Amino acid sequence: MILAGATSQAFAAELAAQTGIDIATVTTERFPDGERYLRVEDSVDEAVVVASTVSDEAWVELLQLQDGAREAGATQVTTVLPYMGYARQDHAFESGESVSARAMARAISTGSDRVLTVNPHEAAVCDFFDVPATPVDAAGRLAAPLADLSDPLFLSPDDGAIELATSVRDAYGRGETDYFEKTRHSGTEVDIEPSETSVAGRDVVVVDDIIATGSTMSEAVTLLDEGGADRVFVTCVHPLFARDARLKLERAGVEAIYGTDTIERAVSEVSAAPAVAEQL
Ligand code: R5P
Repeated sequence: MILAGATSQAFAAELAAQTGIDIATVTTERFPDGERYLRVEDSVDEAVVVASTVSDEAWVELLQLQDGAREAGATQVTTVLPYMGYARQDHAFESGESVSARAMARAISTGSDRVLTVNPHEAAVCDFFDVPATPVDAAGRLAAPLADLSDPLFLSPDDGAIELATSVRDAYGRGETDYFEKTRHSGTEVDIEPSETSVAGRDVVVVDDIIATGSTMSEAVTLLDEGGADRVFVTCVHPLFARDARLKLERAGVEAIYGTDTIERAVSEVSAAPAVAEQL
């Protein structure tokens, strides 16, 4: 049965539709001190726990769902992280810094037999888990809403995301790929160097794994606009959209924004669940 966290209801519904696995009833309440009570109402044999850990609250719920699954009889627990929060904190730059991705992976491993996570920032984050963990590429799903592109260029804002741009291009069926050079100065400040590929008069699709503050993508859209691109589409697997990210993109002149439902937002145009269903 699928046990869904509050952050992943649409994703879980689509996963159920794709796989035919039923969704379990999970009830939650609050104790007077604010702590969550959680109970899995159905008896469970194999559990698929689905939760995007977009907040600390969602992390706690995920651990409770895993534990509730065992209490409800599950002998096998697969944890699906449509979006794994903290995954970008995968390295200690100074002594004493928490490698948060590792801490989270270890915690998840205690309640799980297997983990699937959609397009983690670095696939190497899967090595932090103590149980088999597999990255799932759902970027190709972002090609679906892109219709009738003229001389398309699929571009990533840095070389690290070129594989995602290639996945979207391959799913779309035609077009060139390229990447910009990005330097990050702070959490919200980035510099992007254009490539030598001409964008004048072309439809450009920018592809990244995540839009957080929108700084990266808005810089890219501005550069493409200055380069004479016709229409600029922005796509990402994980539409986190912190602070005024959406406004930044609109101000930069984006034509349309498409994300998946790994994080459920207004731009979640396509579902990543079919890509996960193939791995279950
Ligand atoms: C970083 O390398 C990632 O791939 C994204 O480009 C980054 O996390 C986006 O963050 P923001 O939207 O804050 O620029």
